[in-house]
Amino acid sequence: MLIPVVLAGGAGTRLWPMSRASLPKQFLPVCGIESMLLETLERFRPLEPSDPIVVCQEAHRFLVAEQLREGGWQADILLEPAMRNTAPAIGLAALQSLERDADATLLVLPADHAIRDPAALLNALTPAVEAARRGKLVTFGITPDRAETGYGYIEAVEAPASDRAVGVSRFVEKPDAETAESYLASGRYLWNSGMFVMQASQYLEALGQARPEMLAAVEAAWQGRQADLDFLRVDTEAFSRCEAESIDYAVMEATEDACVVALDAGWSDVGSWQALWEISTRDEQGNASLGDVILEDVGDSLIRSESRLVAAVGVKDLVIVETPDAVMVAHRDAAQSVKRVAEVLKGQS
Ligand code: GDD
Ligand code: MG
Repeated sequence: MLIPVVLAGGAGTRLWPMSRASLPKQFLPVCGIESMLLETLERFRPLEPSDPIVVCQEAHRFLVAEQLREGGWQADILLEPAMRNTAPAIGLAALQSLERDADATLLVLPADHAIRDPAALLNALTPAVEAARRGKLVTFGITPDRAETGYGYIEAVEAPASDRAVGVSRFVEKPDAETAESYLASGRYLWNSGMFVMQASQYLEALGQARPEMLAAVEAAWQGRQADLDFLRVDTEAFSRCEAESIDYAVMEATEDACVVALDAGWSDVGSWQALWEISTRDEQGNASLGDVILEDVGDSLIRSESRLVAAVGVKDLVIVETPDAVMVAHRDAAQSVKRVAEVLKGQS
C-alpha cells in the first residue's frame, strides 16, 4: 500500500506578505489555480494511491479539511499541537499508516514544490518504491545549478540514474556556502528534493536508532491520540517533549540505508520570491507581473498587485508585492531575508 504523506505544517515566511501565519503558502494557489497542497496530491492521482495522510498545525485544520474535500480526497488529518519540524511529523504519519497496513510504503511530500513534468516524477517513483520495499530510505536527487545553501546535498556511491536507486555515501543538510561551492564544483553531488519513499516500519526503525528519545516521545504522543470530527489530535504534552528537528538532520544524515533516484522533472522548491520569479513566465524585460501593474523601464523583477494599481519606474531586480494590508519591496538577492519581516511581526503579536 502506497500512502502519500503531505507535510503541510510549515510557515512559509519567505513568501510574506502573500503567505501569512494564518494562511501559509501551501494553502495558496502560488503557481497555478489550485492550492499547493492540492497540486501536491493531484500529481499522484494517476497512481491511484491510498487515502493520503496530511500532517499540519492545529490552526489550519479547517482549511486543510475544506481543501481536501474540494479536491475529492479522503484523508487522515493529523494535528500537531506544536511545531516540531518534519522528523516527528513523519513519525506520526508512519504510526498512523501502520494502523492501515503493516507493510505500508510512505510517499513523503513537502507541500511547497512546483514540478513542471509530473510524468517524469511518476516514472522515478517505480524504482524508488522497489528500493523502499527492500528496506531503503529513498531520496530523489536533482542536478544542482548553483551553490544553494538551503538544500540537502547527496553524494551517491555511483552515477545516479532515473530508472534505478543507487546507494548514498553522504547526505549533508544545508551546508555552509563554502562547502556548497565545493560540492557544486565536484560535480558529484545532487540536491535532495525533499520527497522520500520508505516503508513506515523502516523509518521508525531508523528514527529509533538515530533519535531514540524523539521516537519515544512520538510514540507516546501517538498513544494518547484522540479522534475529533475529521481530525486526529495527538497528546500535547508528549509531543511537546520532542526536539524540533527535520528528517534530513535527524535521520538522513545518520542512516546507512539511504538511496537516491535521479529526478529530472523541472523540480523547484517554491521557497522564496526569487524561486517564484525563476519559475514564472516572464516578459522580454525579464519581469513576472500579476494584477494591475504599470512598468516603465523595469527589468528582471517580480511585481504582484492584489488590490491596487502598482507602478514601478526605472528599477531592476526587485520584488514588489502588494496585498490589501501590506506592501513589500525587496531586492531579489535578499529574497531569503524576507522571513525576518515575518519574525518581527510575530514578535509584535
Ligand atoms: N507537519 C509539519 N510540521 N510540516 C512541516 C513542519 C512541521 O513542523 N515544518 C516544515 N514542514 C513542511 C513544510 O510545510 C514543507 O512542506 C516541508 O515540511 C519541508 O519543510 P521546509 O521547511 O520547506 O524544508 P526545507 O525546504 O528547508 O528543506 C527540505 O527541503 C529541501 C528541498 O526543498 C529538506 O528536505 C532539504 O534537504 C531539501 O533540499
Ligand atoms: Mg522547502
